[in-house]
Amino acid sequence: MLTVVGVGPGSESYLTPLARQAIDEAEVIVAGERLLEAFAGEGKSTFVIKNNLEDVVNFIKKNLKEKKVAVLASGDPGMYGILNFLLRHFSPEQMEVIPGISSVQLACARLRISWHDAVITSVHGREIKGLVDLVRNHDKVITLTDYRLTPAVVAQELIAAGVVGKKVWVCQNLSYSNEFVREFSLESLAKSPGYPGSVMVIVNYEHKVGGPDE
Ligand SMILES: C[S@@+](CC[C@H](N)C(=O)[O-])C[C@H]1O[C@@H](n2cnc3c(N)ncnc32)[C@H](O)[C@@H]1O
Repeated sequence: MLTVVGVGPGSESYLTPLARQAIDEAEVIVAGERLLEAFAGEGKSTFVIKNNLEDVVNFIKKNLKEKKVAVLASGDPGMYGILNFLLRHFSPEQMEVIPGISSVQLACARLRISWHDAVITSVHGREIKGLVDLVRNHDKVITLTDYRLTPAVVAQELIAAGVVGKKVWVCQNLSYSNEFVREFSLESLAKSPGYPGSVMVIVNYEHKVGGPDE
């Protein structure tokens, strides 16, 4: 059985007991370097995910015949995570998915806002195309960002497209000791250092932290 384990936003305190158990029971752990270091523990056979997705699949296929293999995903595996990729190579019957707390959930918890009414998207490793219209047409848009399309770059693009009346909460390093959560206007964010790899919550200007919205 292949177990796909969501490990939460980063800190061990957000790892669920079920995820801990799945990791402990696995004989082989496959994950990015940061997650392996943080969660794999001692004495396991490991494989590092980097720009080697074909090798990852071959390694899992080889080990899956005889061993319990766990693939670790940050946050929740189904939230812009590795689940979709794995489903292209393994059948759902071969797989168990252990959910994790997504960075989006923790961002909304920090801001004391709901996320059932948000449009959730990602520019992490993707195009920014489409985000401008989403922000124009929806009161609450949450997007994941990366090192190329940082919150600052996204803000610049929104300003250039003439978007007005919005503000942004940037949530970076959630659950870590250097966690950063701050409110920006589009203009101040556009001039900022960037805050790569964070969750961006883009709302109408009057929306308040913890404010009811329905
Ligand atoms: C490939 S996506 C994976 C998302 C993950 N599956 C989830 O549910 O959070 C990676 C992006 O998630 C966001 N992210 C993941 N962990 C984060 C954290 N601890 N703090 C802020 N953003 C985080 C960042 O936007 C990062 O670039």
